[in-house]
Amino acid sequence: MRPETLAIRTQTTRTAEKEHSTPFFLTSSFVYDTAEDMAAAFADDSLDVNIYSRFSNPSVDEFIQKVCLLEGAEDGIATATGMAAVSACFMTFLAAGDHIISASAVFGSTHTILTKYLPKWGIGYSYFDMNKPESIEALIKPNTKMLYVETPSNPGLDVIDLEFVAALCKKYNILFVVDNCFATPAVQQPVRFGADLVLHSATKFIDGQGRVLGGVVVGKKDLVKQLYLFIRNTGPSLSPFNAWVLSKSLETLFVRMEKHAENAFYIANGLENHPALSWVKYPFLKSHPRYDVARRQMTNGGGILTFELKAGLEGGRKFLNSLQWLSMTNNLGDSRTIASHPASTTHSKLTEEERQAVGITPGLIRLSVGLEHPQDILEEILQALQ
Ligand SMILES: Cc1ncc(COP(=O)(O)O)c(C=O)c1O
Repeated sequence: MRPETLAIRTQTTRTAEKEHSTPFFLTSSFVYDTAEDMAAAFADDSLDVNIYSRFSNPSVDEFIQKVCLLEGAEDGIATATGMAAVSACFMTFLAAGDHIISASAVFGSTHTILTKYLPKWGIGYSYFDMNKPESIEALIKPNTKMLYVETPSNPGLDVIDLEFVAALCKKYNILFVVDNCFATPAVQQPVRFGADLVLHSATKFIDGQGRVLGGVVVGKKDLVKQLYLFIRNTGPSLSPFNAWVLSKSLETLFVRMEKHAENAFYIANGLENHPALSWVKYPFLKSHPRYDVARRQMTNGGGILTFELKAGLEGGRKFLNSLQWLSMTNNLGDSRTIASHPASTTHSKLTEEERQAVGITPGLIRLSVGLEHPQDILEEILQALQ
């Protein structure tokens, strides 16, 4: 079966009730037939048996299985949020004395873990510029254990050649971790290009309607086993209810991502060369600095675009205040189009220099293009630019 079909037809074993839609297993723990079965479940943590929903749950397993199939990964583990997925990867595979190389253009909370928490635990980090992948090799040290990227990045929409980075990681025996949140597996499968682990904030396009938080990490079986043990023992597990919502959401992921991308491309073209803007950035616009790479590793440009207001920081505030119906919120990947101005909101506490380092310019507007009629979205933006 093709991924579009697998996203719909992968389901927990049908119960005796003969339900059509996928059932929902809202239970904290599971029972055993005998004392021996119970003892065996606890004695061997590789046994495929449910014990407790912090460890595993059929609704959560269904969601994980679908993401593995769509990403082309051997195994996976789900987490309560995207940040739990990021921090579980760091905490499972890095120890005091290790070093991680990351793109500087990463999500704000990931930046906070890298710069504030990892050094506190004796783990060093180096940042590289997504637009200069040739600078990575010089940063590799004997204790470098992990290389981390988001592509496209949040919010700068930088794109990196996954095959190039994967080859470098292989050469130096470094774990290659990719946050695939902006693209989703419907658009890009980093495992195919050599990533060892791929993670998501499932809160975004995977949910698609801004309802629940969730995260997932997929990749090689032996690595996922280590992550599983970390999550099982430390507790950032995905709730079965959220897993059920996310698994149902995956049924529509492919059609949604196609429409998000179609709308985003329409808006990007409609805004390019607008006199109030210095530039418009979208992976599938020819003007994107890594257009060729994006075309090679993504099936469409995704649902996010950014533009820079010539009027800078004040212009950003004025733009948001001029919106009539488009949502002003920090989430993304929703059926509703969302505008955000990172410099005055999510990244306002960073210094100007720090903002520049993570690709946030004063007049940067991030648009998560929804599923409304594209002409309505464009007209709403154009009136706010007046
Ligand atoms: C690229 C990326 N990674 C990770 C996260 C964190 O996800 P969550 O909010 O589900 O913890 C986000 C959230 O915006 C994100 O955009």
